[in-house]
Amino acid sequence: MTRRIAVVASGRGSNFQAVIDAIASGKVPAVCVALITDNPNAYAIQRARMAGIPVMVVDYSVYPSREEYERELLSVMLEINADLFVLAGYMRILGKTIIRAFHQRMVNIHPALLPSFTGLHAQRQALLHGVKISGCTVHFVDESLDGGPIILQRCVPVLEGDNEDALAERILDHEHECLPEAIRLFCEDRLIIEGRTVRIR
Ligand code: GRF
Repeated sequence: MTRRIAVVASGRGSNFQAVIDAIASGKVPAVCVALITDNPNAYAIQRARMAGIPVMVVDYSVYPSREEYERELLSVMLEINADLFVLAGYMRILGKTIIRAFHQRMVNIHPALLPSFTGLHAQRQALLHGVKISGCTVHFVDESLDGGPIILQRCVPVLEGDNEDALAERILDHEHECLPEAIRLFCEDRLIIEGRTVRIR
């Protein structure tokens, strides 16, 4: 069955592009029904237009409070009613109401091996900590910060002389494979959540 997914992104949207390409090539049995963004200048918007995907802009800067912004975002998401919402470089923390509304129907990509290095600048945190291996994680979103049940992870070695940009770029290559793969598994109904663990059948 073809699932309806929607992507939520704030910026460049290279992960969004990887999802678009994976759907176009038949690797992921889904249709992307919308891009939702909080940033009217996000390059992800151009990517959506090129792919003929409807764009919903909920511009954070025009709302007087975070509550009002989130109320509008929630109503847009309810209207879209996707089977799965994919946070792909969405640079804000979602409030409880939205997270609860899409329980087990929202995933996020994070550029570190969770539970290490949550939040912003994960690659910088990894370098500063001196780890030898980092990577990326796709996980279900729950009310914790980057703490929901883990679907897939990929390891990326930290190399001698790496800086933040070099490490981020190498991790990104793996993100572009890992995120579409996790979406494929979701769409094929192969993910079973058992407490903190996601089993793949
Ligand atoms: C990625 O590294 C993602 O893991 C993180 O933000 C970055 C977004 O990149 N959450 P892009 O917008 O997908 O190119």
